[in-house]
Amino acid sequence: MKKKKLVVLTGAGISAESGISTFRDSGGLWEGYDVMEVASPEGWRKNQALVLDFYNQRRKQAASCEPNDAHKELVHLEEFFDVHIITQNVDNLHEKAGSSKVLHLHGELFKSQSTIDPSLVYEMDGWEIKTGDICEKGSQLRPFIVWFGEMVPMIEPAAELVEEADIFAVIGTSLAVYPAAGLIEYTKTNIPKYLIDPNLPSTRSYLHLRKIPEKASIGTKIMSEEIIRLYA
Ligand code: APR
Repeated sequence: MKKKKLVVLTGAGISAESGISTFRDSGGLWEGYDVMEVASPEGWRKNQALVLDFYNQRRKQAASCEPNDAHKELVHLEEFFDVHIITQNVDNLHEKAGSSKVLHLHGELFKSQSTIDPSLVYEMDGWEIKTGDICEKGSQLRPFIVWFGEMVPMIEPAAELVEEADIFAVIGTSLAVYPAAGLIEYTKTNIPKYLIDPNLPSTRSYLHLRKIPEKASIGTKIMSEEIIRLYA
């Protein structure tokens, strides 16, 4: 029998327990940096070395992190469902855990990109992109990251996936950044929808979602047991 399609939108919260800091929690990454200086085309134009260093540090830190039980539970669910991950994260923990279908909305930390031909994207074996590292067309390599103010090339395929979902889950995202946050509007009305996040402020109603106010490693297990029992 054809497996039901489970589509999961993940954010920084799913990697928090692996040691990768989120962005907007207290002590989050953006507290230490001016977003526009290190994650925008203007910042890149102003000071490429600062931007390269920012992402080199994040890459070095992420390279030593391992998937946690939440990433692993999503792999386990592939036995029961056709699982598609749409992630805002640029780490590679979903792939490291073994997820087979991962769509990165905001790019990938361990890849570099040509500055004059965005279609030229390269796997990285080390953790540094240095000034003077150039693409095959001779231009400086940049991080393969979607910066604030840039288009999100993968948003269309992501929206199509959400429209096709038989079950939808949101794990570890503040839903503060569009167009990613808008994906929730593409779900069919009558399907099961889950929201896993330990800090669910009452201001965020999302009445139509089954809220699991737990950290990802616990909440994903709770959801997994429920959807296997009810829908597999
Ligand atoms: N388990 C689950 N959720 C958690 C955990 C945890 N252990 N710890 C924190 N969270 C939740 C927080 O409550 C918050 O809702 O994860 C969410 C993290 O939100 P953000 O820091 O805003 O991260 P995210 O939603 O992924 O940001 C979206 O914004 O900065 C840009 O491009 C960047 O992809 C990022 C986008």
